[in-house]
Amino acid sequence: LGGVPLPGPRAYPIVGNVLQLDSSGTGNSLERFVDQYGEIYRLVVPWGEPAIISSAALVHEVSDETRFKKPIIADLEQIRNGVPAGMFTARTEEPLWGIAHRVLTPAFGPVPIQDMFPEMHELAAQLAMKWARHGPEQSIAVTEDFTRLALDTIALCSMDFRFNSYYHDELHPFITAMSNFLTESGKRALKGNFLSSLFFWSRNRYFADIKTLRTTAQAVLDARRANPTGRSDLLSAMLEGVDRKTGKKLDDGAIIDNLITFLVAGHETTSGMLSYAFVMLLKNPETLRKAQQEVDEVIGRGPITVEHMKKLPYVTAVLRETLRLCPVIPSYAVQSLEDTVIGGKWAISKGQVVLLFLTRSHRDKAVYGETANDFIPERMLEENFERLSKEHPGFWKPFGHGQRGCIGRAFAWQEAMVIMAMLLQNFDFEMTDPTYELKIKETLTTKPDGFEMKAKLRHGLT
Ligand code: HEM
Repeated sequence: LGGVPLPGPRAYPIVGNVLQLDSSGTGNSLERFVDQYGEIYRLVVPWGEPAIISSAALVHEVSDETRFKKPIIADLEQIRNGVPAGMFTARTEEPLWGIAHRVLTPAFGPVPIQDMFPEMHELAAQLAMKWARHGPEQSIAVTEDFTRLALDTIALCSMDFRFNSYYHDELHPFITAMSNFLTESGKRALKGNFLSSLFFWSRNRYFADIKTLRTTAQAVLDARRANPTGRSDLLSAMLEGVDRKTGKKLDDGAIIDNLITFLVAGHETTSGMLSYAFVMLLKNPETLRKAQQEVDEVIGRGPITVEHMKKLPYVTAVLRETLRLCPVIPSYAVQSLEDTVIGGKWAISKGQVVLLFLTRSHRDKAVYGETANDFIPERMLEENFERLSKEHPGFWKPFGHGQRGCIGRAFAWQEAMVIMAMLLQNFDFEMTDPTYELKIKETLTTKPDGFEMKAKLRHGLT
């Protein structure tokens, strides 16, 4: 087929490029190499020679599911140590992925999501109440509170289980265990299995964290079995759903794995998106003013309803633009089904992994021009969003693509819209430290690090 070999940093024997990667998070190193090598380069790591791509055109090309599929490698492969049969980390050809996909997708369809509105609203209102009680001078650890909100929301709406996170100063042990588990899975992917087994302390903690995750999920399952309800939600789909294609149901192991998967995937990402949204709004006060004005005009001081969710185009654009600049899943992978050439030039071999590096493809100047690094929600208003998606189909992929794309997208969106509307309606905000510059904490997802703000009630709580 020909094609040009990929450029990339010099790889050393045995370790490849591993020592050139920043161990506190690979994102910075990947960015450094983009600056050096451009829209595509290759790395040598223990699990292969991935190509890292960062232009919207290449992202679009590798989103073709007839040529590329999702591989389970690196962090995702390690995560299987804790959740062997979860949807996120299952191979597409494994029967349990197909069963879970067919049985669980309807639970996140438009109607069930709308039905979740009252519960989402209730938890959003609890957070607003908590911030109101803090008073205007208390500095809020934003990411932690959004993490509480998102964990409680996914658990309540999809499993009818209350973590009641706001009532505890410490984050639930599930959250700490999850964060350690994801970070350690990433480290193990770079170290390789053999080296990882030598680090006794981290290995022991790793398996203790897995136990915490599994025990929590088991408690959720036991609670439902002890109190069967007529509710139809994700958990009832897991327990009762029969796959129309195979006639099979999910077994208990697969249910536990998927409960953990949804608890993790369902809150880690949404809380990051919300936290970034406030960093962006506060660093760009004009956008905050416009978002608040829209909420005032559309909702006023009355109750927020599910109908309002579709009537807030600017707030919608704020979230889209947030995920463009701060994709909480900063990269995901596909794998070539054949030897091929991409971009009309670059040689990719059969089985080679291609990493879609959203952190940079979302800032492609060929799509977004000279203002690519700026936060400008206007470019994400519906009409512009549609135009961009026609002209540059690879322009925005924060939720992945195709059959392995995010199953929880509509859920995350509605949850985020409710809380944005509620907070903008009720509070004015300022950064605790006006000189705060965005710092990123990286596990499988990313979040702002050390971001705090103050919230001042605009009027009595609505
Ligand atoms: C898959 C992003 C919220 C559950 C994915 C993928 C991305 C993503 C990029 C594909 C990963 C890959 O190809 O390796 C996001 C973002 C979210 C979000 C940015 C919020 C802002 C949620 C929520 C849930 C969820 C709320 C659960 C309710 C899942 C699951 C998968 C997935 C189960 C695996 C789907 C499959 O492979 O069949 N998500 N997600 N996500 N997401 Fe989300």
